[in-house]
Amino acid sequence: MNFTSLNNGVAVQIDNFDIRDINQQSAEVIKNVLKDATVVVLKKQDRTPATYTNFISHIGRIANWNQFNFDPITGEEKYKPTDEDGFIEPNNWPNPNTYPVQRVAHKRINGKRTGIFGSGILDWHANLNGPTRADGVALQGWTHCEGTSTTWLNTTKVYEDMPQDLKDRCNNVYAEYEYSPEVWAKGLPDNQLNKMMTNKSKYKMWLIQKNIIGKTGIYFYTNNRCKIITNDDKLYNDLYKFMFQDKYMYQHMYEIGDIVLSDQILSLHKRDQNDLSILAERVLHRITFRISNTGKPTWCQTYNNFDVINNNELGETKHA
Ligand SMILES: [Fe+2]
Repeated sequence: MNFTSLNNGVAVQIDNFDIRDINQQSAEVIKNVLKDATVVVLKKQDRTPATYTNFISHIGRIANWNQFNFDPITGEEKYKPTDEDGFIEPNNWPNPNTYPVQRVAHKRINGKRTGIFGSGILDWHANLNGPTRADGVALQGWTHCEGTSTTWLNTTKVYEDMPQDLKDRCNNVYAEYEYSPEVWAKGLPDNQLNKMMTNKSKYKMWLIQKNIIGKTGIYFYTNNRCKIITNDDKLYNDLYKFMFQDKYMYQHMYEIGDIVLSDQILSLHKRDQNDLSILAERVLHRITFRISNTGKPTWCQTYNNFDVINNNELGETKHA
């Protein structure tokens, strides 16, 4: 395996590794790189759905297996994994090429969707929409993704660069959020939005966040109706201006088979193209999985010390 830093360390690319060769040892290496680097790129990998799923399941426990509703070949939404015993081991599926997937796709066949998030805007968001959610996401370019891109904002780089004064202003400050796909995914088809709204939740997170190895960044998910609880009237705008700078972003231009893994506590991402003619045929495969946010209570529940935040007893008790 070789590691190359992209855009001054905003992401890391792993070369000379084939996901078909994943084993416990290489999975441990990649998982550690991901915890440290926040955004990890693997170029032009095997696209076999069972192989990709097997690779991710070695990195972390897969969370969205019950949304693997689609046939990867036809795009038909014909599987209901929730009716099964649970996560279907990729090796137990008869044909590795037809292993069910969650597709990000716009195309409709006979009036039916062939994926999620197919159209509309996909503005800055994190997949961690609450402290118990999965904190890892993987996207793989399946077809017609050339010339399209996703941009990641690595907030560990933001935090590293932040003047002490701004760090102090963020310290022990939390924000309230409301899961708002209607804001960051404006233009979603009604049926998907309605399904997502069943997850509607409010939650609170410290602005300063750490993952399980102590990598520190900022969770400032402005598109989830973010309200910073502070008397510092200028903090929202000052933090916004400091955080959303190009130098903390990595834009991934897809080639077929590319995989991007990211830590959803410490990064945000957005789709760069929303034009339907570009998205008409494009398909990505999406898997969510757990990196730091495991256990009961989860890492994020413990770190965000919810009793303290909920009781507003911020005086003496400091978070880890
Ligand atoms: Fe996303």
